[in-house]
Amino acid sequence: MPFDFTGKNVIVFGGTSGINLGIAKSFARAGANLAVASRKQDKVDAAVAALHGAKQALGYSLDVRDFDAVKAAIEHFRAERGTIDVLISGAAGNFPVPAAGLSPNGFKSVLEIDTLGTFHVMRAAYEHLTKPGASVINISAPQAWIPMAFQIHVCAAKAGVDMITKTLAIEWGHEGVRVNSVSPGPIDGTEGMDRLAPTPEAKAASARAVPLGRLGTVDDVADVCLFLASDYARYVSGVVLPADGGWTAGRGFGALGG
Ligand code: NAP
Ligand code: COA
Repeated sequence: MPFDFTGKNVIVFGGTSGINLGIAKSFARAGANLAVASRKQDKVDAAVAALHGAKQALGYSLDVRDFDAVKAAIEHFRAERGTIDVLISGAAGNFPVPAAGLSPNGFKSVLEIDTLGTFHVMRAAYEHLTKPGASVINISAPQAWIPMAFQIHVCAAKAGVDMITKTLAIEWGHEGVRVNSVSPGPIDGTEGMDRLAPTPEAKAASARAVPLGRLGTVDDVADVCLFLASDYARYVSGVVLPADGGWTAGRGFGALGG
């Protein structure tokens, strides 16, 4: 990969497992200084141990629903490393459930992790972003613009995430800050995929629904993030970029299985 992030400061919220940890690892391999944050201390510790860029990674155990905790982590990162060159917001919650069986608190929980959490991350990081030059990437999902049964909470939450992306691309563009979303398709070996397609049969059906004919890998998504954060994407802001093998080009029905 032609990407060099040597000495760049990258923080990934929700970066301790799955797709987001893969993104963090890719930036570390490209020389960046990493920090990751999520709720569970054991996951944070394991991710920090696995990440080593130009400097040892930093880790924060926090819930993105807690603005003060997000703010404290970002201020610590700023004090230790300097301004933030790449900010990634990827913490999310998901479980398949029919709307008629979803409690108000279940709906609220996903909205608060995905949408309010992304606002918290953006709001707390704004004054610490490298200006000009910072790249902000929110991790979205096809549910943001394709309605899916049993995903009413995620559809609403990720649509909100993408509107945060587009609004901040407008507000922050004049300061040289780019804001984009990446929208993964069905990604093999991840918590999200296991929740939505828990059986081998469901995973095979998901793969058949992808025009490129296979499930995605974590690196398929991470490479798109490297591109978006790089100078190759210097004139790209306010987009929702699918990394989904063409899934959203024409298969917008049903759950991720198509
Ligand atoms: P994952 O491994 O469960 O990743 C979610 C991450 O967010 C974990 O590090 C988790 O760690 C953290 N997290 C969850 N709730 C949090 C909270 N309240 N505060 C702070 N951190 C929190 O899931 P994944 O499948 O890789 O998904 C990663 C991202 O990709 C998500 O944004 C998801 O919506 C998106 N996506 C995934 C797929 C897919 O196929 N997997 C498809 C489309 C979009 P803790 O448990 O320690 O908090
Ligand atoms: N079906 C229906 N409702 C569910 C549910 C399910 N499978 N799982 C949780 N809920 C409801 C709970 O019943 C509760 O509502 P209630 O108080 O009315 O009973 C509400 O959601 C909150 O549950 P709780 O377990 O307290 O939430 P939490 O804040 O501890 O966890 C979740 C958040 C529910 C999203 C949890 O699944 C999680 O932590 N997910 C992170 C990992 C993930 O989802 N990865 C995939 C990303 S794509």
